[in-house]
Amino acid sequence: MLTQDQVIDILKKFKDPYLHKTFEETNAIQEITIKEEKNHVSVKLAIGNPNSKEQMQLQQEIVAALKKEGVTTVGLRFSKLPDDVMGKYEEAAKKQQEASLLGGTSKTNFIAVASGKGGVGKSTVTVNLAVALARLGKKVGIIDADIYGFSVPDMMGIENRPQVRGEKIIPVERFGVKVVSMGFFVEDNSPIIWRGPMLGKMLTSFFKEVEWSDLDFLLLDLPPGTGDMALDVHAMLPSSKEIIVTTPHPTAAFVAARAGQMALQTDHEILGVVENMSYFESTLTGQKEYVFGQGGGDKLAEVLKTEVLGRLPLHQPYDDEDDFAPGVYQEDHPTSKVFLAMANKVLKKYK
Ligand SMILES: Nc1ncnc2c1ncn2[C@@H]1O[C@H](COP(=O)(O)OP(=O)(O)OP(=O)(O)O)[C@@H](O)[C@H]1O
Ligand SMILES: [Mg+2]
Repeated sequence: MLTQDQVIDILKKFKDPYLHKTFEETNAIQEITIKEEKNHVSVKLAIGNPNSKEQMQLQQEIVAALKKEGVTTVGLRFSKLPDDVMGKYEEAAKKQQEASLLGGTSKTNFIAVASGKGGVGKSTVTVNLAVALARLGKKVGIIDADIYGFSVPDMMGIENRPQVRGEKIIPVERFGVKVVSMGFFVEDNSPIIWRGPMLGKMLTSFFKEVEWSDLDFLLLDLPPGTGDMALDVHAMLPSSKEIIVTTPHPTAAFVAARAGQMALQTDHEILGVVENMSYFESTLTGQKEYVFGQGGGDKLAEVLKTEVLGRLPLHQPYDDEDDFAPGVYQEDHPTSKVFLAMANKVLKKYK
């Protein structure tokens, strides 16, 4: 029969599947009971994410390891590690998961742009915030995670297709921003008819099979609402932060709050709220008219305990035949100043 010390020796080399630290480092072994007459060992372990599929896997490995040493039956109980241990290792674990997604060590910060409903300006915000960050000298990429409703290539006026180098896709660069979108891989704007599981795989490919090199920021333009894709992004990018876009109407903010709650429930920090289509400013009189109501952004920020990063007026980019990109505001456009201020606010949060 194994002794207590022998059981410890076997267990301490196992790694916490979430924190990637050994049980010795996390102090995971809480209790060991040995019943000699029945040749039974029971163990209580504390791990980073109990009740996950990683726990099931771990369970089988531990049982097998103990049985190999002659134990007849094994009892395992799991609990969650205390906050101080989690605090010590969790951030690093999240970063490690993301770095492996991008294929190496990565200092990339992820920002997901979400909304409660469609058409409020997520893609506009993603594209122009990315361009603003690039104008401030940052290395920026966009993943158009709206696999069905992709719009980033059109908004940015991208007509090239990505090149393939070796096994990797080289993102298309425009206005200093690297872009990957489903739109690059679809012929003639034909609709996409894949089902759920394919979407998750596509998103994984957008990380793993694309040569992103070392970006400062990778922005994700999410599809509207709180569906599977948004959940996939949250699971894949545990340290990703969120921007929630809303229109100024109070009921719109109520719907947007759901997207925010989803981020909070899955432990994602909200960088702030962007209120889009906040007002219309007359070029003749300079007077502001609040055509879609007022107060939505503030209300949403209050509910989500965050701030309003910026308020965008109703204003299209100028027509620009030479530099066609119907969704990108030119550097001298008044709306660009709002985006620059927003980008500066975002940068401050990463200092
Ligand atoms: N501040 C604005 N002023 C004028 N037009 C705007 C503004 N913001 C967005 N639009 C226009 O509104 C439409 C919807 O914007 P956008 O595509 O960014 O929204 P979305 O939330 O990404 O939509 P979807 O849910 O379909 O992905 C676009 O045609 C865009 O050009
Ligand atoms: Mg969009």
